[in-house]
Amino acid sequence: MADSLTVIDNRTEKKYEIPIENGTIKAMDLRRIKTSDDDFGLMSYDPAFTNTACCKSQITFIDGEQGILLHRGYPIEQLAEKSTYLETAYLLIYGELPSGEEMDGFVNQITHHTMVHENIKKLMDGFHYDAHPMGILLGTVGALSTFYPEAKNIMDQEDRHRQMIRLIAKMPTLAAYAYRHSRGLPYTYPDNSLSFTGNFLSMLFRITEPTYHPHPVLERALDLLFVLHADHEQNCSGNAMRSVGSSHVDPYSAVAAAIAALYGPLHGGANEAVLHMLKDIGSKDKVAAHIKKVKAGEVRLMGFGHRVYKNYDPRAKIIKRLVEEVFEVTGINPLLEVALELERIALEDEYFIARKLYPNIDFYTGLIYEAMKFPMDMFPVLFAIPRTAGWVAQWEEMLLDPEQKIARPRQIYLGQMQRDYCSITNRPSQAPARDR
Ligand code: CMC
Repeated sequence: MADSLTVIDNRTEKKYEIPIENGTIKAMDLRRIKTSDDDFGLMSYDPAFTNTACCKSQITFIDGEQGILLHRGYPIEQLAEKSTYLETAYLLIYGELPSGEEMDGFVNQITHHTMVHENIKKLMDGFHYDAHPMGILLGTVGALSTFYPEAKNIMDQEDRHRQMIRLIAKMPTLAAYAYRHSRGLPYTYPDNSLSFTGNFLSMLFRITEPTYHPHPVLERALDLLFVLHADHEQNCSGNAMRSVGSSHVDPYSAVAAAIAALYGPLHGGANEAVLHMLKDIGSKDKVAAHIKKVKAGEVRLMGFGHRVYKNYDPRAKIIKRLVEEVFEVTGINPLLEVALELERIALEDEYFIARKLYPNIDFYTGLIYEAMKFPMDMFPVLFAIPRTAGWVAQWEEMLLDPEQKIARPRQIYLGQMQRDYCSITNRPSQAPARDR
């Protein structure tokens, strides 16, 4: 059996052999298919990249039909149970789990890069009191590039890694400052004696106590949520990171672009949207009416569906179990009843079954975050902090891949072809067009 595709162009009756490698054909091989010498050649049309691989990667594997997620080969279930966020970040970046010594060195580096320049605080002060923390985060991460001019040396391994460490380390600090800003509270400096998530909780919630003692169950729950969010291969924000990074801009600017992509309600903003939806529904008896609206196409069921998973998102399964552990400490979030009823009805309904719509990672996270006293607009920020590990790992892989170039898709142009400029006094009226 030949690893190739035979294509017959019915326009010319010419036959082409196109090699198949790793279950794909190279889109550039289609360009050989032409009707004449001056024909540009065939292209593929794939809005939203639904069937286009944009890179070769060794970081994260997803089997959407089976509901499998592996980071560097390790199942997400095992990482969730046995690993920590920083260890998973190390794994994503360096490809292997660290030895004890390597882990200590990595944690030490992250811990000593958590501070941000005092001018960042001034920058944050400029934001309105009710600015969305995700907007603040994206603005301040972009601004970090101006504090580290050496970040432009993206091909220098030492410089590159320093920025990757800084990004992972400073994200919780910026996120906590954004939160404190919205509450009118003074910013709390990092506490190096605490864990990554313990320190984050301290920067968020410490008031006057000299040392903040995070609740161990909540500290571990947040760390586990960070493990689950650390990477998810070529999603919208990962693709933004690679695409913007392919121009060889510094990583702070590329991460700002990735945060912008994550902000949207169809991506990382979905966890916030789920909570709004659950609150709008309000009680279990109103769930059926909401499902009716979803099926009528009036609204989407937020936290349901996924481009890749056509099965239960394995991360959502783990989070659903975590809900109980967290609620034992915080007390039950009454919206859980609404969420469970939504899931029950949706999973039995033909509309959702036919479209293979299952709960995704965002369906239950909001309930946990709310129980932990995070305001809703912090939810997407809680996604961005851990996803930074995935973004920088994807970014470095892209930079070092000799097959990668600046991202530059093609288009199918369906507009006017060349025509002559006409002076304003001689133009026909365009009233309907102007109203568009
Ligand atoms: N509620 C109701 N119908 C849905 C939903 C939903 N959440 N998601 C998809 N559908 C329907 C959609 O209307 C379409 O139906 P039809 O074939 O009759 O036109 C069909 O399912 C296929 O949908 P699609 O829009 O072509 O699927 P997609 O792969 O482009 O979209 C998605 C994926 C995640 C954007 C979408 O499922 C969605 O909008 N979900 C809600 C938002 C959400 O929870 N996002 C978080 C995703 S997971 C974490 C992350 O990546 O950030």
